[in-house]
Amino acid sequence: MAEFSGKGRLLMKSRICRLFLFCMGATLCLWLLAACSAPVDEEKVLAAGKEIYTNQCSHCHQEDGQGYAQIYPQLAGNPIVLLDDPAPMIEIVLHGRSSMPSYMDELTGEQRAEVISYVRNAWGNKASLISTSQAY
Ligand code: HEC
Repeated sequence: MAEFSGKGRLLMKSRICRLFLFCMGATLCLWLLAACSAPVDEEKVLAAGKEIYTNQCSHCHQEDGQGYAQIYPQLAGNPIVLLDDPAPMIEIVLHGRSSMPSYMDELTGEQRAEVISYVRNAWGNKASLISTSQAY
């Protein structure tokens, strides 16, 4: 009898153990699934874009996006930057315009997407981020 209850307890323990492992496994799977399908990390994109802006754009358009009157346009509150459709801005960054250089070779598609997303969301600007595939 004592032996039986001992076995019973062991059985219970292993069931709890299996249940525990199952829950852990399920949690891990859900977590991995969430991580893989997570949307782009907005903060990361904008931080990378800010760095590119500082290195590539700020000497003309200034760190605070104010530009220089009559020479380099202000990007803060700029209507081209704030368009719902990012295509005109992508076009300018890709091909350059008058004294603004082209960033076709200077930056990768990912970097162009980051810097454009940053400018569209810096200094009070508010517009959608763009994806790497849009930046070609
Ligand atoms: C050598 C100076 C220079 C650099 C560097 C530069 N730009 Fe420009 N940018 C200009 C000039 C000049 C214009 C106006 C072009 C024109 O005549 O339409 C301009 C225009 C723009 C416009 C359109 C705004 C408007 O009102 O015409 C955007 C957007 C822009 N630049 C973004 C950027 C970004 C992003 C970078 C960095 C990746 C950058 N620029 C680097 C000089 C520069």
